[in-house]
Amino acid sequence: MALTDGDKKYAGSLNSAMIAGPEGRAAQEYANHFLEPGYEDITKVYIEQHYEGYTEENQESWRTLYDRQMAFLATHASGVYLSGARSINLVRDHIPYLEGQKSVNHFLQKLTGWQSRAVPGYLPAKTFFACLARREFPTTVVIRPKESLDYLPEPDIFHEIFGHCPLLTNPWFAEFTHTYGKLGLQATKEERVYLARLYWMTIEFGLVDTPAGLRIYGGGILSSPKETVYSLSAEPEHQAFDPLEAMRTPYRIDILQPLYFVLPELKRLFEVAQEDIMGMVERGMQLGLHAPKFPPKPKAA
Ligand SMILES: [Fe+2]
Repeated sequence: MALTDGDKKYAGSLNSAMIAGPEGRAAQEYANHFLEPGYEDITKVYIEQHYEGYTEENQESWRTLYDRQMAFLATHASGVYLSGARSINLVRDHIPYLEGQKSVNHFLQKLTGWQSRAVPGYLPAKTFFACLARREFPTTVVIRPKESLDYLPEPDIFHEIFGHCPLLTNPWFAEFTHTYGKLGLQATKEERVYLARLYWMTIEFGLVDTPAGLRIYGGGILSSPKETVYSLSAEPEHQAFDPLEAMRTPYRIDILQPLYFVLPELKRLFEVAQEDIMGMVERGMQLGLHAPKFPPKPKAA
């Protein structure tokens, strides 16, 4: 497919050539047709990281983001996140390598069998689920431009690796994400929308209760300087996690979230993975969505 809106935002100071060349286009095309006849090999949606494509400005963006986030997260992220970040050797001085001796994957493989795999951009839902069902985390390898450090609705490597990979070292979280991928691959289009909300309210924007107070584990928060502070403030609502309620809660990707679901402990996700998630989806479809707690997205001009 033509790389979409997101790709236009990657242009300019971003290293868009890393994903927009012939290799990226072919992988994106394959991803868009995945599971159609002749498009059954999920590994063909993966690309190389082409590390030499990062500019000094890209590396600077990583260091700036890393420093800003870790200064706050050292006391506000889940302990599982912080120990996970150490165990995959996440460091400030360079954008992470996906492959090789010092790579994220080298460490992740030994811990839970998960792997980060470079992709050219957004994947259609079934392609995304197929990756997760193999314990492979699709990873956009470009990094946000320095003028958009605070929040980028599109994923970038800071979001994917800094935000998501440390939690994938945790067996409970790893199991939940794997189960989620397998269910999503089998689900209908309508069911996937409900599953997507569960993902959003946990893996992307989840909080967890601890004796010391609320802590962050959702990758969408962890990789957003603005949202890390806001999510723990008194401004948004905090609601005890309930998977069915999470599935019924609408969201917008381009605003700070008005509501966060709070897990009693991270192990709750492992328990949900053992429960009848598709039964919950069915129930959610019968009950329908809650009213949004946000204004409608303005129409594009
Ligand atoms: Fe994400």
